[in-house]
Amino acid sequence: MIITNLKRQPKKTFPKEVFLNGEWINPENAFVSVFDRGFLLGDGIYEVTPFYDGKPFKLKEHLDRLQYCLNEIQIEFNAVSLQEIMLKAVSRSGFLQSDCAVYIQITRGVAPRTHFFPEQIQPTVLLYAFSVVLNGFENKQASLLVSEDLRWHRCDIKSISLLANIKANNQAHSLGLDENLLIRDGFFTEGSHSSVFFLKNQRIFTHPEGPHILSGITRKVILDLCREMEIQVIEKALHIDEVTKVEEVFLTGTTTQILSVKSMLLNDKEIFNRPETGEITRQLQEAFLKLTRSSS
Ligand SMILES: Cc1ncc(COP(=O)(O)O)c(C=O)c1O
Repeated sequence: MIITNLKRQPKKTFPKEVFLNGEWINPENAFVSVFDRGFLLGDGIYEVTPFYDGKPFKLKEHLDRLQYCLNEIQIEFNAVSLQEIMLKAVSRSGFLQSDCAVYIQITRGVAPRTHFFPEQIQPTVLLYAFSVVLNGFENKQASLLVSEDLRWHRCDIKSISLLANIKANNQAHSLGLDENLLIRDGFFTEGSHSSVFFLKNQRIFTHPEGPHILSGITRKVILDLCREMEIQVIEKALHIDEVTKVEEVFLTGTTTQILSVKSMLLNDKEIFNRPETGEITRQLQEAFLKLTRSSS
């Protein structure tokens, strides 16, 4: 059965416990200062790591990306120091036998408001595990809006300042669509919170790494799978004019996993329609399922 509207997912709830600056706290009692630079300026980084059946998937890659982003914005913090706490969050929250994800947010910390980076301030660290539905993605298809990519030129930094992303996603959501696929200078970059892949002439195209996309961990898993399965991949952005020649489209992401795309809407015009999941997408979904569900 194909579910077309992803909004039929269960409602998100608050976690029962969060780890804030070294303490495990009930969220009702967890507070940060109004002078936290995350609150005032969006000055921070976040990361989301999936746990399948209670086991982390690509933990090192997620911590490496977190460290890269912290380094890029000069927040001094050792990302690996959170590894044990992530595992603890999953067990403390009772998710050892189920699927969940761990959210991490590190802001520069609390200081009188300035545009320059204040010296000698302690980063604010928030971490929690939350329940997430990771099964059944292979039975879904997404309908997308396509719009202009209005984000900054450092999309490789997983910044908590997500205004352009949430604005784009909300635009799709308000039309009953599942994701907003972004175009910069006529080329597809990525979704508001997902990477994108196109199949054209039996070859896969995806935007190359760089400042205009987030270096998706799932994106890299797909590239590895393609290599193993001898599916040709070209890391080159696809131009909007080429969309008529596209055979399959899919999105990837930590909680999105591999999501087949059913339709794409640009300026009220349907520019892509594929009511069934294509063969290559299906093969990649099967390989991904084996990878994530194999006991490690
Ligand atoms: C803008 C953007 N691109 C791509 C992705 C997918 O990245 P990952 O596979 O690491 O979750 C995300 C995930 O949140 C994202 O926000």
